[in-house]
Amino acid sequence: MPRLVEKTLLTHSATAAAITRSATARVLLTAITTLLILYLTISPPSKSTCHSLFLSFSDNATAARHLLALTRRPHVAGTAANAAAAAYVLAVLSSSSLPAYSVSYDVFLNYPIRRSLILSPFPPPLPGPILAFDLVQEIYPGDPYADVAAEVLPTFHAYASSGATAGPAAYANYGRLEDFAALRVAGVNVTGAVVLARYGEIFRGDILKNAKDAGAAAAVVFTDAKDYGGGGRGRFPEGPGMPASGVQVGTTYRAVGDPTTPGWASTSGCERWSAAEMAASGLGPGIPSLPVSARDGEAILRTIGGQVAADDWQGGEGAPLYRLGPGPGFLNLTFIGNETLATIQNVFAVIEGEEEPDRYVLLGNHRDAWTFGAVDPSSGTAALLEVAQRFGKLQKKGWRPRRTIIICNWDAEEYGLIGSTEWVEENREMLASRAVAYLNVDCAVSGPGFQAFATPQLDELLKQASKKVQDPDNSSQTLYESWIASNYSSLIGRLGGRGSDYAAFLQHVGVPSVDMIFGGGYPVYHSMYDDFVWMEKFGDPMFHRHVAVASIWGLVALRLADEEFLPFDYISYASELQRSTKIVEDDALGMPVTFAPLYKSIEELKKAATKIDNQIKALERNFLSLNWRKDPLKVRELNDRLMMAERAFTDRDGLFGREWYKHLIYGPSMHDGYGSKSFPGIDDATEKAKSLNTSDSWSFVQHEVWRVARAVTQAALVLNGKFT
Ligand SMILES: *[C@@H]1O[C@H](CO)[C@@H](O)[C@H](O)[C@H]1NC(C)=O
Ligand SMILES: *[C@@H]1O[C@H](CO)[C@@H](O)[C@H](O)[C@H]1NC(C)=O
Ligand SMILES: *[C@@H]1O[C@H](CO)[C@@H](O)[C@H](O)[C@H]1NC(C)=O
Ligand SMILES: *[C@@H]1O[C@H](CO)[C@@H](O)[C@H](O)[C@H]1NC(C)=O
Ligand SMILES: *[C@@H]1O[C@H](CO)[C@@H](O)[C@H](O)[C@H]1NC(C)=O
Ligand SMILES: *[C@@H]1O[C@H](CO)[C@@H](O)[C@H](O)[C@H]1NC(C)=O
Repeated sequence: MPRLVEKTLLTHSATAAAITRSATARVLLTAITTLLILYLTISPPSKSTCHSLFLSFSDNATAARHLLALTRRPHVAGTAANAAAAAYVLAVLSSSSLPAYSVSYDVFLNYPIRRSLILSPFPPPLPGPILAFDLVQEIYPGDPYADVAAEVLPTFHAYASSGATAGPAAYANYGRLEDFAALRVAGVNVTGAVVLARYGEIFRGDILKNAKDAGAAAAVVFTDAKDYGGGGRGRFPEGPGMPASGVQVGTTYRAVGDPTTPGWASTSGCERWSAAEMAASGLGPGIPSLPVSARDGEAILRTIGGQVAADDWQGGEGAPLYRLGPGPGFLNLTFIGNETLATIQNVFAVIEGEEEPDRYVLLGNHRDAWTFGAVDPSSGTAALLEVAQRFGKLQKKGWRPRRTIIICNWDAEEYGLIGSTEWVEENREMLASRAVAYLNVDCAVSGPGFQAFATPQLDELLKQASKKVQDPDNSSQTLYESWIASNYSSLIGRLGGRGSDYAAFLQHVGVPSVDMIFGGGYPVYHSMYDDFVWMEKFGDPMFHRHVAVASIWGLVALRLADEEFLPFDYISYASELQRSTKIVEDDALGMPVTFAPLYKSIEELKKAATKIDNQIKALERNFLSLNWRKDPLKVRELNDRLMMAERAFTDRDGLFGREWYKHLIYGPSMHDGYGSKSFPGIDDATEKAKSLNTSDSWSFVQHEVWRVARAVTQAALVLNGKFT
């Protein structure tokens, strides 16, 4: 009961002067002081002492040990190896005296059964030497995982269509809409072609969709050495770059969650879509595809003739000259996948809140990996376990959080955020009425440089927490100091993309969320070379970055769980909305759209935010001057307004054409699932109106502006806590 101690002390010092005048009082005072000291020695430490203790428990050896254990074998969702990894996580949580359990779902996954890719330099029926690619990632010199290399899944694109197809090869740069538009302008017809695109700019599912929409029969996507070769530092194991045979695998699913249960949870015996219903809704790209290595990509490019591609479509040093095709190089591609209901496991640990057990702060990370997954996601899992163990130690010192903390370890994120999405869908109303915040870490570390993404009411808390954590790369400064010295265009990014497990929490339910990482894109991403050796050599040689992530992640959780008033800042949310509005307004400059309703609603939000801040300050003041105890119901009522304001940004109808996404401020852009834009509904409508340029299409933009404005007004009302 640390809060009681503080109150007693305060009340005591306020009256101390009067009491000390009489000797009797002095005796009384001594007695009280003795009692207090006795109480302090047997009572648990204060919340802020606990938070400092949490930071002092940091230990790079723990994170390194967990990472080594988690990356011993490849652990793809639905496999025995990943079930074993779940058992490991469960055991670590339990051994930290945290009540832990797992929840299973049967979900629709697919695995590769048969793949082949054959290249001939001439179109049939011309005879020519053929090259059948072996599509194998090679073991490297000294590879400690050579014994389990056969357990690495054959390279594939999850949910690509099964089939055998053939056509002339054509080159499409990064596979963006503008790349296919450029091909059209150049008169290159990719209908019936097998399109070769490179990774690096947009989500692979969108590359394949664009290829299919352009008429391609199939697609091949490679990691160009120019983008993934490690720059001047060389290829793994000498440098961090992708080896010549390295392949980036991954999902092509453009929605989230189990495809057989769109919008509801995959519970036992539940309603499920048939294969036909899934196909009709566009599961996967609708064409066969394969990811290939830089070496295979270059071999294909050597056989493509026709116009020379533009400079910014070319490869790096030593690469052949890239041409557009199609042909004469000719590709035969076969992919057969096994689509199956597989069992996945989410693992949880719960630290029950002492005063508000029905308010939840959630920390989450996924466990399933395409291969060994040292960066993605086991660095995050190792950090999560490090946080959990530190919480366990704090409990032994007598700490109990005010609110409940839930530690979540998701499965099948790689296929399409499936584990987290099914759980959020199953518990939607509980989360909507009780969740305070969701704090995600996917990859914790891929290199130097801290990056954070958040809903804006959490910006200030993130900054404050980063001032308490040491910079892992320079012990004479804080994480905050190195962070602000970085060159990111804005310090804290937003969560518009659907890149990780925060999507269901924020974009479906409207729970304030955070995502954090050290580093960013890294060359061996989703390949066999994302292993412990790579991490130790290039990602985090001393494991200090893992520790720093665990520290800030846990500290933010502790403050959200322990502080009497939720540390949410809606004034900064309103300022951020104003900035974002300016961007969409500039985008539609000179068009028949007014953003005045949105600006007006943001003003209302700013007023409401200032008002609730003042109400909290007044309560604090009254407490200091006269009250023994704040009215707990009043505190709760203010906190509920802070908690529920984010929910008001969601709309029952969701984004147009993508109704699962309910949040009108943060959601993925229509053409790049990784892209992060504010006001996705306005953005999509503007894009469309720009190409159609009809008055109807501009009216629709206006409608989207009104919708967002109404949501912001609702949030202001929630913050005010008053009916109109
Ligand atoms: C593109 O190629 C396909 C298949 O060869 C053909 O049917 C189509 O007419 C071509 N389109 C144009 C615009 O040339
Ligand atoms: C590739 O496909 C073409 C056209 O379908 C076919 O004529 C040829 O025999 C195939 N080549 C191989 C090696 O499978
Ligand atoms: C497809 O997956 C199921 C379930 O995992 C398995 O039982 C079956 O053997 C697989 N089929 C093939 C052809 O690999
Ligand atoms: C480490 O941080 C200190 C204090 O900010 C700074 O003066 C120094 O240049 C930094 N060292 C390196 C190697 O960046
Ligand atoms: C920021 O950019 C400048 C110029 O491009 C560069 O010299 C500096 O090293 C960068 N700083 C960080 C922290 O990346
Ligand atoms: C932990 O950090 C220390 C230096 O602070 C270093 O000597 C040690 O090797 C690190 N441990 C691991 C496992 O990297």
